[in-house]
Amino acid sequence: MEALRDKGVVVTGAAGGIGRAIAEACLAAGARVVVNDLDAERLLATATELGAYAVPADVSTSDGIAALIELSTAHLGGIDVWVGNAGIQGGLGLETPDETWQRAHEVNVMAHVRAARLLVPAWLEGRGGRFVVTASAAGLLTMIGAAPYSVTKHGAVAFAEWLAATYGHRGIDVHCLCPQGVDTAIYRNAGEVQGLLAADGLLTPAEVAAALLEAIEQGRHQVLPHPQVREYAVARATDTDAWVRGMQRLQRRYDAPPRSTEENA
Ligand SMILES: NC(=O)c1ccc[n+]([C@@H]2O[C@H](COP(=O)([O-])OP(=O)(O)OC[C@H]3O[C@@H](n4cnc5c(N)ncnc54)[C@H](O)[C@@H]3O)[C@@H](O)[C@H]2O)c1
Repeated sequence: MEALRDKGVVVTGAAGGIGRAIAEACLAAGARVVVNDLDAERLLATATELGAYAVPADVSTSDGIAALIELSTAHLGGIDVWVGNAGIQGGLGLETPDETWQRAHEVNVMAHVRAARLLVPAWLEGRGGRFVVTASAAGLLTMIGAAPYSVTKHGAVAFAEWLAATYGHRGIDVHCLCPQGVDTAIYRNAGEVQGLLAADGLLTPAEVAAALLEAIEQGRHQVLPHPQVREYAVARATDTDAWVRGMQRLQRRYDAPPRSTEENA
């Protein structure tokens, strides 16, 4: 794939899950890849298995992003493609404390802002660049039971769109990846909403990575590995009140006390 051949690519949150699959797909497409994660031990094992270069760092901080960009630039000789994929669920409902909301905001939103702030000026002066934001279908719709995740992923979608609108005509390509259920640690820890996330099919990380590479090849900004998400987004925009009533019906199902064995029989 020409768009990635010989390119220097950085993938954050790539010790496992979707990030690891994106790193693997980029390597297969001929890129040179730096993988990043907070979990250094898992990251080193992944890097060894894939034949990538590992840079452990916390992308939720300015220092972490700066160190990752500096070490990746030194290793790759320049970053052509940034895949901001690290993400956390970060709390549930109204009981979620401020610190947990703040952490979700730092990882799910500010990591993208801080990376773009350092990368884009150099890309504008040089040969351009490609910036990928792994958001979520929750950033276009809403995730039942997960307020910080829904709010911060909406922020990630908004930032990706702003970046594309502002710099697209100046050689910066931006892609926003919005999957629904994908079989990874985040999905496996989703508790009772797992069924909902998988309602339109649980994809493998490799399928999501393939959807991203296809979008890169075709020059598409929004990447929807689950095609149903487009229909939901259209329905939500067309009649938001009806959409909210539908979400309330879904929520009621999760509020209902578990039925006894006799009732289920
Ligand atoms: N699995 C799904 O159903 C699903 C659906 C939509 C979007 N997503 C998004 O996909 C992305 C990847 O998630 P995943 O599903 O592969 O889950 P995952 O938990 O396997 O991967 C997330 C990775 O990010 C790393 N990470 C977390 N905070 C970090 C930080 N501060 N610095 C560096 N690394 C950090 C974690 O250690 C982990 O390895 C996330 O942004 C997630 O929100 C996942």
